[in-house]
Amino acid sequence: MLPPPVRLLRFRQTRVRPGGSCPRIGRPCTGKELGLPVGQPVPFDDDLRVVSGRAIPARPSNDALSGRYSTNATATALGTARADSRQRTLTELQNDESQVAAKADPFGDLNGWRFSVAPMMDWTDRQCRAFHRVLSRRARLYTEMVTTGAVLHGDRVRLLGFDAGEQPVAVQLGGSHPGDLAAAARIAADFGYAEINLNVGCPSDRVQEGRFGACLMREPDLVGACVAAMKAAVSVPVTVKCRLGVDDQDIEAALDAVVGAVVAAGADGLIVHARKAWLKGLSPRENRDVPPLDYGRVARLKAARPDLPIAVNGGIADIASAKARLAEVDGVMMGRAAYTDPALLLAVDPELFGEPAPVADAFAAVEALEPTIAEGLGRGLRLHAYTRHMLGLFNGRPGARAYRRHLATAGMAPEAGLATLREAVAQVSRMEVSRERTSPPQQAA
Ligand SMILES: Cc1cc2nc3c(=O)[nH]c(=O)nc-3n(C[C@H](O)[C@H](O)[C@H](O)COP(=O)(O)O)c2cc1C
Repeated sequence: MLPPPVRLLRFRQTRVRPGGSCPRIGRPCTGKELGLPVGQPVPFDDDLRVVSGRAIPARPSNDALSGRYSTNATATALGTARADSRQRTLTELQNDESQVAAKADPFGDLNGWRFSVAPMMDWTDRQCRAFHRVLSRRARLYTEMVTTGAVLHGDRVRLLGFDAGEQPVAVQLGGSHPGDLAAAARIAADFGYAEINLNVGCPSDRVQEGRFGACLMREPDLVGACVAAMKAAVSVPVTVKCRLGVDDQDIEAALDAVVGAVVAAGADGLIVHARKAWLKGLSPRENRDVPPLDYGRVARLKAARPDLPIAVNGGIADIASAKARLAEVDGVMMGRAAYTDPALLLAVDPELFGEPAPVADAFAAVEALEPTIAEGLGRGLRLHAYTRHMLGLFNGRPGARAYRRHLATAGMAPEAGLATLREAVAQVSRMEVSRERTSPPQQAA
């Protein structure tokens, strides 16, 4: 049976797949919901979109997608193993989605919360999240902060719409009116978000004028009331991302007061950006670097609150540092490092979850993302909407600068498409091939 028309509108651009987790119904889809015969095996590429009440195939076949970065010479030079690894497209990754959804229970075993990519305004939009998702199946991804006013009165599909393949995704809300937060949380939960997070850490002037973000560190009772209202409105986990304190607050007392309030309100977890925010005199950017980090304070909080899932954020630059922090807390949240050096996300699944990476390398990641980009271009997005998040992907490799330059020039043209992206990637693969040809054979040890 097909959904009523009003719901179809909301999920018009959402891909759903029999057997996968359906954002509309919030659980695995049997096919019945799409008007398909239940129990019929679904072919490999039978990825579907609900469009005007009909389920239609959404993607070109994998045959058409495979191996495109490999000229014959490159494929030979780089070896068959890598060429094979590039056969995995996002469609194929999404075929694993029901397994991921089963493991994504965020706080059942805390595993789903072990590693996340931070909410970052203007950065972690849905194109960015689709890209990060091809690099790690297990990283929890956060949206940019969305204010309650925008959710309640703005274009919800534009603000909150996301692709089921991005899951697990948490939405971050900004606000301080319990009723508005409850209403916004309910709307976000209906969109299928796996977690609703409240921002108690943003120090910008605009946010302070709205009396939310980091300045709420001074109002623990209000934070508690907000969390209680959100908890009453949704069944998905409700979490808070906060600072150690603001301005001249004592970080022991300030953090304890907020934590006490959110625990009493039933919060499911806390992410602590392990530094204060200085509300006067520092820009938001400076507030991410200048106040000193204090991981010890977060570790002490975890020791005092063993039952509260706690993740730490701030200054975590690589996977080794993430592992070190995981000795003290339940989760790590990485922001700028994950964005500027996204290839490090390839190590998240193997190093932090003991599972294989979804793709073998950065080349394979681009290839896996291609169908999603093709779909976005088909919806009228520019190539740049994706590639602006991908500039750091080949950092440290020969050809990385030429890759970035190509994306920053040809990639900005309105007509830029997948061919432009392939040309940019070829700058790196060409350099790798010529390097392999010129480097002397390795001596056996
Ligand atoms: C461009 C940018 C935008 C950000 N926007 C948000 C936001 O919307 N909500 C939020 O809680 N934090 C935001 N942050 C802060 C990050 O979530 C994170 O707390 C901070 O960058 C420290 O983590 P890191 O050192 O791993 O980057 C933003 C950071 C950056 C760099």
